[in-house]
Amino acid sequence: MAKHTVTLIPGVGIGPEVANCMCEVVAAAGAEIDWEVQEAGAEAAVKRGSPLPKEVLDSVRKNKIAIKGPTGTPIGGGHRSINVQLRQALDLYVSLRPVKSLPGVSTPFTVGPAGKGGAPGQGAIDLVIVRENTEGMYTGIEHTLVPGVTEAIKVVTEKASTRINEFAFEYAEKMGYPRVTIVHKANIMKVTDGLFLECGRAAARRHPKTEAVEMIVDACAMNLVRNPNRLGVVVTLNLYGDILSDLCAGLVGGLGIVPGANIGSDTAVFEAVHGSAPDIAGKGLANPTALIQSAVMMLDHMSEHECARRVERALRDVYEKGTARTGDLGGKSTSREFTDAIKAAMK
Ligand code: NAI
Repeated sequence: MAKHTVTLIPGVGIGPEVANCMCEVVAAAGAEIDWEVQEAGAEAAVKRGSPLPKEVLDSVRKNKIAIKGPTGTPIGGGHRSINVQLRQALDLYVSLRPVKSLPGVSTPFTVGPAGKGGAPGQGAIDLVIVRENTEGMYTGIEHTLVPGVTEAIKVVTEKASTRINEFAFEYAEKMGYPRVTIVHKANIMKVTDGLFLECGRAAARRHPKTEAVEMIVDACAMNLVRNPNRLGVVVTLNLYGDILSDLCAGLVGGLGIVPGANIGSDTAVFEAVHGSAPDIAGKGLANPTALIQSAVMMLDHMSEHECARRVERALRDVYEKGTARTGDLGGKSTSREFTDAIKAAMK
């Protein structure tokens, strides 16, 4: 197997803890990776004068693959989100979040074996959120017009809307999802969301084998709870995708388990979607599943499919047998015990 160099941004809080677990599991699966460790976030801002130093971007541009833990973002002021900056600087236009139940992790929404496009209440959840990652409400163009009156500018372009919708239909075809649900609010935002919807319809015409469904975002939130498998691949604008993907994480057991990827035309950054969890940071209690599942996506992206399947099988085995389980899912295992259980399951 070829040796790869990957930029690793451990992040803050529980970030370095889950990153260590992930690196151990990936190594135990036989993947040969040189990790180029880079610091980003509030600590980098203090030490190196920028929350996203140039060397971090240079490293990701060179290696074309990165994986990151959570980096804190100050609320209501301070530096812009590292994630948003990375996505915009590297033109990572797709946020891809597969949402799948893990065996043995039951939630009020999961009741049995899985199926793509399954009937209500008849299966473990299996859907994917494809979120536009570079524009919409996340342009960062915000200002105070006069004291007491503020404004944010939402930008939607034909180029970005076309490529994200095209990605969603291609992904559905490749992964065997029968339908794409185009989610918008074009009844209210007729120009911006209207353009996104038009681009979705055009992509649907180019992919006639895949069913295309149009859905307003509020109805989508309800349908995700009532019958999530019916949606297949959900493609949507930046802010809606952000909110809906956390809702979906909740359907399958929470932020500690779902993976994420930010994908551009030649670069990809894989990430745990949870935050730095200051309440449990430094206690060895974090669930490393989200970052490990993100590493599975990364290994597939690098065409290391055997290693990816090895990690995936071991993870599912640990959940199915209940060998180890962390506190967020009702267990008592530490991050170390959970990681050791996955490594043992690979032997
Ligand atoms: P959070 O995701 O850090 O925590 C929410 C709850 O989920 C907490 O109870 C936490 O203990 C739990 N949790 C999260 N991940 C877990 C894991 N892997 N294992 C076990 N439990 C886990 O969200 P919060 O509290 O809103 O944000 C804290 C900080 O993280 C903020 O500074 C925020 O800006 C940052 N953040 C960073 C993100 C990123 O870099 N991708 C994403 C979300 C938040």
